[in-house]
Amino acid sequence: MAAVVLVGAQWGDEGKGKLTDYLTEKADMVVRYQGGNNAGHTVVVGTEEYKLHLIPSGILYDNKVCVIGNGVVLDPAILLEEIHSLTQRIGKHARLLISSNAHVIMPYHRLLDQLQEQSLGEAKIGTTGRGIGPAYMDKTARTGIRVSDLIDPELFAEKLKNNLAGKNLVLTKIFAVPPLEYEEIYQEYLTYADELRPFVTDTSLEISKYIRAERRILFEGAQGILLDLDHGTYPYVTSSHPTAGGACVGAGIGPSCIQRVLGVAKAYTTRVGEGPFPTELTDEVGDLLRRNGREFGTTTGRARRCGWFDSVIARYSGRVSGISDFAVTKLDVLSGFERLKICVAYQYQGERIEEFPQSQKIFAQCEPMYEELPGWQEDLTQIQRFEDLPVAAQAYIQRMEELTGIPVSIVTIGPEREQTLIRHSLF
Ligand code: IMP
Repeated sequence: MAAVVLVGAQWGDEGKGKLTDYLTEKADMVVRYQGGNNAGHTVVVGTEEYKLHLIPSGILYDNKVCVIGNGVVLDPAILLEEIHSLTQRIGKHARLLISSNAHVIMPYHRLLDQLQEQSLGEAKIGTTGRGIGPAYMDKTARTGIRVSDLIDPELFAEKLKNNLAGKNLVLTKIFAVPPLEYEEIYQEYLTYADELRPFVTDTSLEISKYIRAERRILFEGAQGILLDLDHGTYPYVTSSHPTAGGACVGAGIGPSCIQRVLGVAKAYTTRVGEGPFPTELTDEVGDLLRRNGREFGTTTGRARRCGWFDSVIARYSGRVSGISDFAVTKLDVLSGFERLKICVAYQYQGERIEEFPQSQKIFAQCEPMYEELPGWQEDLTQIQRFEDLPVAAQAYIQRMEELTGIPVSIVTIGPEREQTLIRHSLF
């Protein structure tokens, strides 16, 4: 039995897509367990670039099974667009299974996401505007529409009518915008239902068969631990559980099925959207990281905020997700700096804090305490083995290990599949 959960150890965008793709090569099944098309993965294969938002990047292999678990919120239009585009570009792709318990993103979710953000003004969360939060709100309110409802035309009609009545009241009375038309949505979603029906199944059961058969399973987290609804920088979080624990609930498996948790962390830090970010660099160093690291969102195109590596965050992520191994991505982006900084602790009102604060008010006032390390000038992108990295680059990684107490098993030095240095294999 080998099940690995891959999680983002920062605020998302850690380069998980490439790691997922790399590990997928060895896996038999890849499972998405939370989030929706707020995520975005760019996978580069040869000269081809694939941007995926919902389907696990394992779809690019024709001998794997890709699963969209019950913890995902699914926008059918986006999913079908991805399926069509992949079929056109790569022909035969992996088998896709969709949980009948996953919730469906409806047009009113997208609209409400955008209207709610506008109404928050300065206090906005900076969501991706894809309807993720409102879809999860309906899920917890127990009024949401699940995939199993969508593919049952009668049940769907009833649920849509009930939901739309309530949503139209909110749209017209609170946000003063025109109501949405039932028939238009019903017809549009019926066509999606017809196309999706063959993929829909009890995915927890399918996953359990793979577990029993001791096949290799990769659980692919989207976003990052600091965007977790409970453990992230609330309220500047997403509405799901990107932590490793989310894999259990969002896929329908038990914790005893998981062997390893791979935390993916960038060699520096980035964040999109609002919220505190102690090591953020608003100067030319931040601009350089953004430029060299091409730090612009896959999903929204937004420029990412950039800063130094924060080991307080890495330690915290390690704790709340039980990370057994780190993968450090984009080490190549740090070439060319004379000195590098790693945040080892925070200063708050004159005191040194080593653990991630629970209070966001305190977090917002934390100042980073840095340790400086020598940089390196060499280009890393062609290096084949960890031992061939410049001594300073190896020392940088070793310092990360010391500060987190977690081994760095993988280091990436570029976007290609080959630009991956494996120190300890996970499967
Ligand atoms: P939502 O998930 O669209 O509701 O957005 C909530 C917060 O999560 C915002 O700060 C987004 O920028 C952030 N977010 C959501 N998905 C991603 C992602 O895949 N990468 C990075 N940030 C994300």
